Amino acid sequence: MQDYHEFLDEVLIPQDALQARIAELGAQISRDYAGRDLVLICILRGGVMFLTDLMRALTVPHAIDFMAVSSYGAGARESHGEVRISLDLSSSVEGRNLLLVEDIIDSGNTIAAVLALLETRRPQSLRVCTLLDKAERRQARVPIDYCGFVIPDRFVFGYGLDLDEFHRNLPFIGVARPDRILHRD
Ligand code: IMP
Ligand code: MG
Repeated sequence: MQDYHEFLDEVLIPQDALQARIAELGAQISRDYAGRDLVLICILRGGVMFLTDLMRALTVPHAIDFMAVSSYGAGARESHGEVRISLDLSSSVEGRNLLLVEDIIDSGNTIAAVLALLETRRPQSLRVCTLLDKAERRQARVPIDYCGFVIPDRFVFGYGLDLDEFHRNLPFIGVARPDRILHRD
């Protein structure tokens, strides 16, 4: 795998801006959930970096759990309405306050399907926190309760998001050079 510089068009959100916004989100979520039970649910794998930094920005006690989902037709750019659960939560969420932590909402199809599934498990409350929102690409109606940044319709990577499974470790969000994207998901 080549160095990421080969694929980087520009840095869209630098490290300090990411961290400053995550601190703000952490403070807001801490206020909103003060005195309440809270479970953060991270959708693997893209949300991992955001989850761990958001956890450090929270001052309220919280549990964490993980789900992995794949949309049908993985490897393609577009996701569809149905998702396959490849890793499910480790315990019951009935009666609990759930906050879904996502890296990016694009069409919204993935998160809409996950929300529909989790609703059937009768949580006390269910909210969505996404680092990035590609709002102009939205197809499904998704209520977003906490959003880091609304971004343009460009393929981004770094800070948990992958470019063909690599470069998730970068501390910033970069835009991929359009001519260097092999397959996008
Ligand atoms: P949606 O179902 O169309 O909202 O797709 C959401 C998923 O697509 C995200 O969780 C990412 O895995 C992936 N995705 C969408 N846009 C990008 C991008 O620009 N870079 C990397 N992954 C992306
Ligand atoms: Mg993802």
